Amino acid sequence: MSGYQRPLRLAMVGGGQDAFIGAVHRHAAALDGRYVLVAGALSSTPQRSRESGAALGLSPERSYGTWQELLEGEKNREDGAEVISIVTPNHLHFPVALAAVQAGFHVICDKPLVPTLREAQELEAAVKQAGTAFAVTYNYSGYPLIRQAREMVRRGELGQIRKVIVEYHQGWLATEQTGKQAEWRTDPARNGPAGALGDIGTHAEQLATFISGLSLEEVAAELTSFVPGRPLDDDASMLLRFEDGVRGVLTVSQIEIGRENDLRLSVFGTQGSLSWRQEDPNHLIYDGLDKPRQILTRGGPGTGGAANAVTRLPAGHPEAFIEAFANIYSAVADDLAARERGEDINPDYPTIRDGVQGVEFMTRVLESAAANGNWVSLKGSG
Ligand SMILES: NC(=O)c1ccc[n+]([C@@H]2O[C@H](COP(=O)([O-])OP(=O)(O)OC[C@H]3O[C@@H](n4cnc5c(N)ncnc54)[C@H](O)[C@@H]3O)[C@@H](O)[C@H]2O)c1
Repeated sequence: MSGYQRPLRLAMVGGGQDAFIGAVHRHAAALDGRYVLVAGALSSTPQRSRESGAALGLSPERSYGTWQELLEGEKNREDGAEVISIVTPNHLHFPVALAAVQAGFHVICDKPLVPTLREAQELEAAVKQAGTAFAVTYNYSGYPLIRQAREMVRRGELGQIRKVIVEYHQGWLATEQTGKQAEWRTDPARNGPAGALGDIGTHAEQLATFISGLSLEEVAAELTSFVPGRPLDDDASMLLRFEDGVRGVLTVSQIEIGRENDLRLSVFGTQGSLSWRQEDPNHLIYDGLDKPRQILTRGGPGTGGAANAVTRLPAGHPEAFIEAFANIYSAVADDLAARERGEDINPDYPTIRDGVQGVEFMTRVLESAAANGNWVSLKGSG
């Protein structure tokens, strides 16, 4: 095998023992055989980093104590990592990603991209200058039936879009929590200024714009911290104005007891509507005007090329979270393979631009909430 037909060499920052999303990234990267994990700086202390690397079978010299050592070490090896995956708490995304991009690595970074718009813009400028690939793991856009929904909207099967509703309901932060994931997410210094808004609201915003193909123009928001003493929002609701007069509602919460990862999306047009739920991701409901309801199944009859291109298993064998992540990882691998062949493909994964847009959204929502829910513009400031 030559060039990027062989697996890409991947290094990971974050994702040590007991971490949540790092393991999901590793499974996703491995799923299609497009990556091999060669190095890591996996935890917040050098000792834990090395222990985590040993547990994954990394060689001792590539199981680094810090991310700075990792970038330096991998840059100077002939067989060094080509892609860096960043799965740390949010405040580290910016320094790690900026240094990685400036050193010429391709990057796959989790969301929210960075805490502030200034950092987002600086990072985007660095990516442009380096010409490297940069993906943001807005993984929900990788689900086959989300691709199907986008294709149906594009084909006009809903008519003119009128309204988009996105909800992301969770209940795991309904009380004060001291667990690993909760601890940094409720600390502004490590999480950034947007709580539930940054953690799951950015997913919801990306999904709404991804499926509708519309840009978001204005937002009016209310943020609440229900848990006493919590410095960040744990509940956020807002009205949205998209281009072309399309309206929207976005609501996210982490205090709704009993809700797990209840992400729901509905799109309404003049000729029909679509609805999808992350907790039942292999079904997509389509209601045509005055027509009987259709329930499309992933891999089943009626799904089109966009969905089938990212479907692995026959209908009825569930695919979900890890496969959706894998679709993003493999799209990055496709992009790098095409670049190596000298081709310019339009990469079908969320890029640095989507990441910046998410940070701009967070920033404007925070401004609106601080101004008692006034409408704030998102036009052209990202
Ligand atoms: N796309 C998604 O669906 C999704 C889901 C969960 C989390 N996330 C994002 O992924 C990131 C990680 O979240 P998580 O829930 O896995 O958090 P986590 O607390 O479970 O894991 C974070 C990991 O980063 C490590 N770390 C901390 N400081 C480090 C440093 N200086 N160098 C190297 N490693 C360091 C920690 O030791 C830990 O292993 C966050 O940005 C979060 O928003 C995305």
